[in-house]
Amino acid sequence: MTASTANVALSAWVDHWMRVLQPDAVHWCDGSSREYDRLCQLLVDGGTFQRLSDTKRPNSYLARSDPADVARVEDRTFICSEREVDAGPTNNWRQPAEMKATLSDLYTGAMRGRTMYVVPFSMGPLGSPIAHIGVQLTDSAYVAVHMRTMTRMGTPVLEVLGDGAFVACLHSVGYPLVDAAGRSRPDVAWPCDADNKHIAHFPETREIWSYGSGYGGNALLGKKCFALRIASTMARDDGWLAEHMLILGITPPRGEKRYLAAAFPSACGKTNMAMLIPSLAGWKVETVGDDIAWMRFGPDGRLYAINPEAGFFGVARGTSHETNPNALATLRENCIFTNVARTDDGDVWWEGLTAEPPAHLVDWKANDWTPASGTPPAHPNARFAVPAAQCPSISPEWENPAGVPISAILFGGRRATNVPLVTESFDWEHGVFLGSIMSSETTSAAGGAVGKLRFDPFAMLPFCGYNMGDYLAHWLDIGTKTHPAGLPKLFWVNWFRRDDDGSFLWPGFGDNSRVLKWVVERIDGDAAAMDTPIGRVPTVDAIDGRGLEIAPDVLAELLTVEPRRWREELPQLEHHYESLGEHVPAQLRDHLTALEKHLAE
Ligand code: OXD
Ligand code: MN
Repeated sequence: MTASTANVALSAWVDHWMRVLQPDAVHWCDGSSREYDRLCQLLVDGGTFQRLSDTKRPNSYLARSDPADVARVEDRTFICSEREVDAGPTNNWRQPAEMKATLSDLYTGAMRGRTMYVVPFSMGPLGSPIAHIGVQLTDSAYVAVHMRTMTRMGTPVLEVLGDGAFVACLHSVGYPLVDAAGRSRPDVAWPCDADNKHIAHFPETREIWSYGSGYGGNALLGKKCFALRIASTMARDDGWLAEHMLILGITPPRGEKRYLAAAFPSACGKTNMAMLIPSLAGWKVETVGDDIAWMRFGPDGRLYAINPEAGFFGVARGTSHETNPNALATLRENCIFTNVARTDDGDVWWEGLTAEPPAHLVDWKANDWTPASGTPPAHPNARFAVPAAQCPSISPEWENPAGVPISAILFGGRRATNVPLVTESFDWEHGVFLGSIMSSETTSAAGGAVGKLRFDPFAMLPFCGYNMGDYLAHWLDIGTKTHPAGLPKLFWVNWFRRDDDGSFLWPGFGDNSRVLKWVVERIDGDAAAMDTPIGRVPTVDAIDGRGLEIAPDVLAELLTVEPRRWREELPQLEHHYESLGEHVPAQLRDHLTALEKHLAE
């Protein structure tokens, strides 16, 4: 079929891959609701989707994946730059030509018997100066319908693209229905090639080649692959930032609205925070994004952020009326769930949704389940995909093509000890240092030694498309430019500190608004803080504790910096910097030395 685009490079690219992949048919996605409904029906007919009850969850579907294809696969994710040093020691590196040769073999005939969908998509509001366009080829209708929820997808994107450049995103589940000899096999509900998964990125040529998996970030290539790994290299080259951050707007009772961005590692509550309902009377939080922020300096010198995505692809587990009422309200209709459990009345369930599980479910592996089963009914990485526009707390500015001006950036890990509830950096460079040493304790649940720190600088370790040391240098570089409008203030936050018995000290969720209030007041310069060796922490009185059911000494504990315990952490910090390799900027090493000196005093 002829390409329905005047973009010569795009039609040549599509033609080339048609010849290699050998699909039976090619379908250019127009992004319409008619097309969405038709593809969903195709998925129902093929057994991939089940339609949920239209009274319980209108226009929504449940998919169950192959148990061998349930999450991102970091060990099968590759950064293929010409030089190994450009991928850095924290990425899996492969020589681009070698990777392309391996994958070209796997791709040959990979779409036989299937339709190839051509999915044009924009990351960010169509035509925004901060947005970028990609085109994904995929043999998965499941992926195509997700791309409609998660991005701006379809014909209008081709119109905006014109003859411009696009990020080429190639995807096959690797399950052809006809072999080279012409023998057919039946399709399965979740086709994949679990033993040969490759999620390969070519940052220098802005390409993504994904093979073998149909799940999440492995297959919805706009998200982690493009909006973080490829975009981080584009951002380095062009002086902007592509970050694993939520974006929210916060308005004090009588004050000016501010926008904050916040980086947390996966599964640390970014979606909850982005949709937070403040426990502080009169404060309001609005959601701009829950996972990724693209930020660029605007004509007025301020840093502006867009959410490049159009939907939320959230972890279902633990999402409830208690933890995130806005998410639950968002999920009322037009959802696609994957690997959650199904209730007898045609709805969905996951751990934490209700205090008591239903008496009977069908679990994510399609087995009958009762509370006596002793197995989790939903997979821990079960997901929902839902349009962001349905979120009750969505910001009126979330689709502003100019983005929203960012006043502060928060870095958070999951730390039981040492890291205070909130810490303001002394300046930009020190803030970059704090971001570079973000960490979480390993837990017995995650395997590995309990209490050992797992570092995840800027929550970008799995998502940076280039050398992490160079990434830190890029952040420092931003700080060295002149910024007449000022740079955002940088903070560290930690909702997860525990007492000696292992209980959380801080209630979290809506009470995190108390921390955000202090952050906003620091931006305005009118909240008290004290200097510690690791940065500025609030005085106990500076955190608004009205209505907070924790004792003042607990708040004091949450804000304590204990030099003795910090000294114990230093060897792990040093080891972390060593593991990032030789490109870690000298200024950051100097900050580590200075911290060691302060702690010794
Ligand atoms: C995500 C992740 O899916 O960080 O957002 O893993
Ligand atoms: Mn994420």
